[in-house]
Amino acid sequence: MVSHNKPYTVATLFFLALFLISIFFFFSTRTTLHPAPSIHSDLYIHLQPLSPPPPLQPLSPPPPPFPSPHSSSATTETQPEPVGDIEDVADNATDAESDAQPVTENIAEDVALSLKVCDLFTGTWVKDESYPIYQPGSCPYVDEAYDCKVNGRTDTLYSNWRWKPDACDLPRFNATDFLVRLKGKRLMLVGDSMNRNQFESILCLLREGLHNKSRMYEVHGHKITKGRGYFVFKFEDYNCTVLFVRSHFLVREGVRLNGQGRSNPTLSIDRIDKTSGRWKKADILVFNTGHWWTHGKTARGINYYKEGDYLYPKFDAVEAYRKAIKTWGKWIDDNINPRKQIVYYRGYSNAHFRGGDWDSGGSCYGETEPAFNGSILNNYPLKMKVVEEVIRGMKVPVKLLNVTKLTNFRKDGHPSVFGKNTMGGRKVSTRKQDCSHWCLPGVPDAWNELIYATLVFQQTNSRN
Ligand SMILES: *[C@@H]1O[C@H](CO)[C@@H](O)[C@H](O)[C@H]1NC(C)=O
Ligand SMILES: *[C@@H]1O[C@H](CO)[C@@H](O)[C@H](O)[C@H]1NC(C)=O
Ligand SMILES: *[C@@H]1O[C@H](CO)[C@@H](O)[C@H](O)[C@H]1NC(C)=O
Ligand SMILES: *[C@@H]1O[C@H](CO)[C@@H](O)[C@H](O)[C@H]1NC(C)=O
Ligand SMILES: *[C@@H]1O[C@H](CO)[C@@H](O)[C@H](O)[C@H]1NC(C)=O
Ligand SMILES: *[C@@H]1O[C@H](CO)[C@@H](O)[C@H](O)[C@H]1NC(C)=O
Repeated sequence: MVSHNKPYTVATLFFLALFLISIFFFFSTRTTLHPAPSIHSDLYIHLQPLSPPPPLQPLSPPPPPFPSPHSSSATTETQPEPVGDIEDVADNATDAESDAQPVTENIAEDVALSLKVCDLFTGTWVKDESYPIYQPGSCPYVDEAYDCKVNGRTDTLYSNWRWKPDACDLPRFNATDFLVRLKGKRLMLVGDSMNRNQFESILCLLREGLHNKSRMYEVHGHKITKGRGYFVFKFEDYNCTVLFVRSHFLVREGVRLNGQGRSNPTLSIDRIDKTSGRWKKADILVFNTGHWWTHGKTARGINYYKEGDYLYPKFDAVEAYRKAIKTWGKWIDDNINPRKQIVYYRGYSNAHFRGGDWDSGGSCYGETEPAFNGSILNNYPLKMKVVEEVIRGMKVPVKLLNVTKLTNFRKDGHPSVFGKNTMGGRKVSTRKQDCSHWCLPGVPDAWNELIYATLVFQQTNSRN
């Protein structure tokens, strides 16, 4: 690092300003040379270098030693978690205003230009010994279900992979820089346990940016467990909060009394979830729903889906999903200010069960390397096409974190039998495996690195 002690002369500053202005014009003219994609452009995450990127990784990393791949089969079922009570604590964390972003001059032009047209979600996993970003067992916010190493998983390669888009490199993850970008803001993840998985990952990633790790805490003192549906973490030194709001379907769950006087669950696909009051208050939102639509009453759709007061005797789950996502899209259009708020939708993360489903002895135990070929890689669920279609028709630009394909590779990333502590002589049952969620550190870290990458290159004028 070279530090300049000599003060800049007026002439130097003048030429520097000229230089920056010319770069600006260079970018804007280059931009117009690229034709707009024919589909709704917000589906592609376009990376505009409005604020300068942090130092980047070498453009051509050495080719990774690819492991010999194994064939794999996959289903899209998942293990549900019990529905707990949504705790109704009023959240009074401060609303915030953004500070000016620090300005530096080291714009990496070539890289910034290539990122402008780079599809972040087409690429491969490369081995990188500098990963994971936080050490297994080091982060207190990983709950038992995802704490694979602590639970007894001994292979470690699964945490040494970095996602590499074909057309560009991601900016090197910088937790401090991420925190600076979140200054005064509220980042909220809304969804099911897969989103809680991602939430725990982001807490651990951001924690790496703190000198004093005690300067982040859950404001009500709650420990993360699957039984609770609402968490608010405050980062004192950055005046920002990172929240999780559980909402399995994004639309409203209810109950009805059946003929025998017993209460049965219903799902109102035309009404937004009752946690939506909280969503409005976030600056950056990350949504997902999907895994709860694939099994049980939701998949069967008998006396379950409701529109208005009408209860459908039988209704198709994909059609119900379409209506629910439309309900969500309309709510976003009516309640979100795209000049002040950013909305992400994180794509479906396929499970990797071999030889059965989550509830019938399916397994992924013993998978230690990603799959680099095979049909699993092209498993793009119909539900994702529905999401794309709805987003395309929305007013608010929703950024699709299109992680389905990149997670398809990672049959090695699931807890399998290590979703429970197997240490101290506890018996390992291979009968109930979790091949849906992800070990931490692990795959959700890459999803969050992609959020970071989009913030780095597409800083919005949030809160201004
Ligand atoms: C998302 O990724 C899938 C699988 O790679 C691809 O088929 C689809 O077109 C992508 N969607 C968008 C909007 O880029
Ligand atoms: C917290 O917010 C609730 C409503 O959102 C309000 O009634 C209450 O007075 C607030 N409490 C504090 C301490 O600001
Ligand atoms: C945190 O943000 C709130 C709301 O914008 C602001 O009132 C407060 O002064 C900020 N605190 C610090 C320490 O920056
Ligand atoms: C990370 O970001 C911080 C804050 O922007 C910066 O001071 C630091 O130099 C960055 N670190 C690296 C390794 O780039
Ligand atoms: C870390 O932060 C905590 C909480 O603010 C404080 O009590 C503690 O003294 C700090 N530790 C150091 C080494 O600064
Ligand atoms: C993947 O490729 C390897 C060779 O590179 C081959 O042996 C294996 O059969 C392939 N698997 C599938 C499912 O195509």
